Amino acid sequence: MRFRPLNPLSRLNPSSYSMVATLPPPHSAQPEEDDQDEHLCAFANSRSLVIEAHPTPLSPSVPLLESERRVERAWEHWRRLGSPRLIVAPMVDNSELPFRMLCRKYGAEAAYTPMLHSRIFTENEKYRRMEFTSCQEDRPLFVQFCANDPDILLEAAKMVEPCCDYVDINFGCPQRIARRGNYGAFLMDNLPLVKSLVQKLANNLSIPVSCKIRIFPNLADTLAYAKMLEEAGCALLAVHGRTRDEKDGKKFRADWDAIKAVKNTVRIPVLANGNIRHMEDVKTCLGHTVADGVLSAESLLENPALFAGFRTSECRDEINCCPDDGGLDQAALVEEYLRLCEQYPVPWRMVRSHVHKMLGDWFKAQPQVRQELNSQSKLTFEWLYEMVNKLRRNLGGRVPLYTKVF
Ligand SMILES: Cc1cc2nc3c(=O)[nH]c(=O)nc-3n(C[C@H](O)[C@H](O)[C@H](O)COP(=O)(O)O)c2cc1C
Repeated sequence: MRFRPLNPLSRLNPSSYSMVATLPPPHSAQPEEDDQDEHLCAFANSRSLVIEAHPTPLSPSVPLLESERRVERAWEHWRRLGSPRLIVAPMVDNSELPFRMLCRKYGAEAAYTPMLHSRIFTENEKYRRMEFTSCQEDRPLFVQFCANDPDILLEAAKMVEPCCDYVDINFGCPQRIARRGNYGAFLMDNLPLVKSLVQKLANNLSIPVSCKIRIFPNLADTLAYAKMLEEAGCALLAVHGRTRDEKDGKKFRADWDAIKAVKNTVRIPVLANGNIRHMEDVKTCLGHTVADGVLSAESLLENPALFAGFRTSECRDEINCCPDDGGLDQAALVEEYLRLCEQYPVPWRMVRSHVHKMLGDWFKAQPQVRQELNSQSKLTFEWLYEMVNKLRRNLGGRVPLYTKVF
């Protein structure tokens, strides 16, 4: 593997490297050139770490370490990272670099990238440039792939290995596209393939492999699955406590008992996922499941300051919250997010998605501003900052975030 600094500035910063090698021609799945949502929202700057190209020769297999030693190493690695407990879940189009950085500022102790398609990642330079960026401060970081071919997965994993702390395999995606592509939760029907994907990474990467799973309807199957993953070399397991058929997170509560049972069965670190809306949920979940940390997804999208103890008005009445707001609101978070996007460019569709989710409550009060946003086929930062100002002006106040009374 050869490394080349992205630009002269990055020589000052040894972690700002891009991998260089020759590549096959770009894959056919190219976005439309005139679709703004598929363009970066600003010029990439020296602080973004961009994977340029690849491939690296695959290192030879190493013999399987004894399971005892593997478990020990899994914990050593976890502790070296500071035993992060508050973690941004992987979210396609939504857990991209600027959003991760915003959540980190407000208490997140680690973060996952959105799921990346391992085959497209190995084949398509534009996909890598658009869908995966990172920077020195973006750690600890899990880079998540979906895959169904161990060699291709390893090739993709080798490309990100120098700039993350775990390579994660998505065994939880329940969407139709995953069924068609034969990845995610549909690999629960092919456990030998799951095992070979994990083994391939565990035996050939210099950093640990983690897995994100859903539960089976039957607890014994879930526990056997978790044990198999651990034995295959998985060094950290994130358990989403819903089955493959329980797609709607609002309709189905995550099963924390199943997560607790997994935690009691395996010896590697376990993260609990599902039903985390605010810090009180974090406390209850960790108490109940004895898991080593939590992932949050949907609630963070609405409130990226969740891990710093802020909660939305929807969650305010459940517990004893300050009657006054916590001095922060979602409009201010959007402005911070936009500034991060100027620093760390991402495709416009991601910016649009976050603006909608963070400002949901504000748009409820002013649906005409949402309409104006929807009618903009091309966005600019200037327009978005002005839109936030307009929301504030029209409302004559704010929709605050709240903190708990201690
Ligand atoms: C917009 C969105 C995108 C998601 N994309 C991914 C993904 O790329 N990989 C993954 O493993 N899970 C993905 N998920 C699932 C979440 O990581 C998480 O498991 C699920 O939302 C349950 O957590 P929650 O109850 O906190 O929302 C996504 C969820 C959302 C809302």
